[in-house]
Amino acid sequence: MTYDIALLPGDGIGVEVVDAALPILEDAAERDGFSVETTRYDWGSERYLREGAMMPDDAIETLEGYDAILLGAVGHPDIPDHVTLRGMMLPIRKAFDQQVCKRPSVLFEGVESPLRGYDGEDIDFVVFRENTEGEYSDAGGHEHRGYPHEVAVQTAIYTRQGTEAVVREAFEAAAEREGHLTNVTKSNAQAHGMVFWDQIVEEVAEEYPDVTVERLLVDAASMDLVRRPDEFDVVVASNLFGDILTDLGAIVSGSMGLAPSANINVEGHSPSMFEPVHGSAPDITGEGVANPLATVLSVSMLFDHLGEDDAAAALWDAVADQLADDGAPRTPDLGGESGTEAVVSDLRTRL
Ligand code: NAD
Ligand code: IPM
Ligand code: MN
Repeated sequence: MTYDIALLPGDGIGVEVVDAALPILEDAAERDGFSVETTRYDWGSERYLREGAMMPDDAIETLEGYDAILLGAVGHPDIPDHVTLRGMMLPIRKAFDQQVCKRPSVLFEGVESPLRGYDGEDIDFVVFRENTEGEYSDAGGHEHRGYPHEVAVQTAIYTRQGTEAVVREAFEAAAEREGHLTNVTKSNAQAHGMVFWDQIVEEVAEEYPDVTVERLLVDAASMDLVRRPDEFDVVVASNLFGDILTDLGAIVSGSMGLAPSANINVEGHSPSMFEPVHGSAPDITGEGVANPLATVLSVSMLFDHLGEDDAAAALWDAVADQLADDGAPRTPDLGGESGTEAVVSDLRTRL
């Protein structure tokens, strides 16, 4: 079996972590008797500066035939973020109906949480983020600028299909995990979209009588992810709230450099895309110290999605094994002094 994977390293440390993860991706495939054909596309901000566009016009057609996409990160200090992200990544999520974003937050054994009193997998939850609409919809947005009474309109759209898709995936996951789902909204202030969302959660909940459902407002949920992160199992949230809560989830479980993500194509146009939760980190770009483990864990999620369960587990376990070993190399975000390459070389010996 050969899988075709498109590599979109993107910008900044995105390039560093995708390049670093590539040999491990190949090792894991070889170990489990399948092969991976990768094609690298140098799309991103450097291309934008050279040619005026992040991706070519036929980018979506080019990506269509792949079994999966591995993305690094997008974002450049000299280009406004809304230009780079809306020129790449956000359109890919939309074009391929990657409506469900799955983001686990696991405090691995051997990793220190900034929160007191938690260690060794005390924190283990997964956020299902609606990924193509909600507050990121962009439909009907407009601005009247340069007038005495300036106004900018940014709409949020919640469709039944999109909301049900992510809610259903979250309930499925909860049924297989500890049977607890936390629905995070802001229905006290946002009476249209969020009340509709809550109603859909209640409807889908009837199909999962064994899953307990807790409702939290997003402000209180942010507090509780710090106060009692060990009590969360599955969290479901809209696009923007899921985005915010997953950076919080990354840091309470040790580092941005450990948080993986899957943008899952639910229906319609495939493939799915896998990427670390973090961005292009211009503050550490070029130093060779970016933590590659979030990307390795994202590759594990990619293999899991392709049905290559053994390779997925081998990668996840190798990361867990390295983190549990206090003699192993670590990048500075985890309190170590090693670089990206040293972490990867060590990890290859643990597969
Ligand atoms: P960021 O995630 O890039 O960085 C936040 C902090 O975490 C920085 O201090 C950074 O050094 C640290 N960090 C992140 N990843 C790390 C890793 N692998 N190892 C060690 N430390 C790591 O977020 P930001 O600074 O808000 O954004 C920087 C740029 O990235 C912006 O242009 C933003 O729009 C973009 N961004 C892109 C994506 C994406 O493409 N998926 C995600 C988030 C942000
Ligand atoms: C993420 C990022 C993106 C998002 C940005 C860069 C548009 O923060 O993947 O978490 O909000 O989806
Ligand atoms: Mn984010």
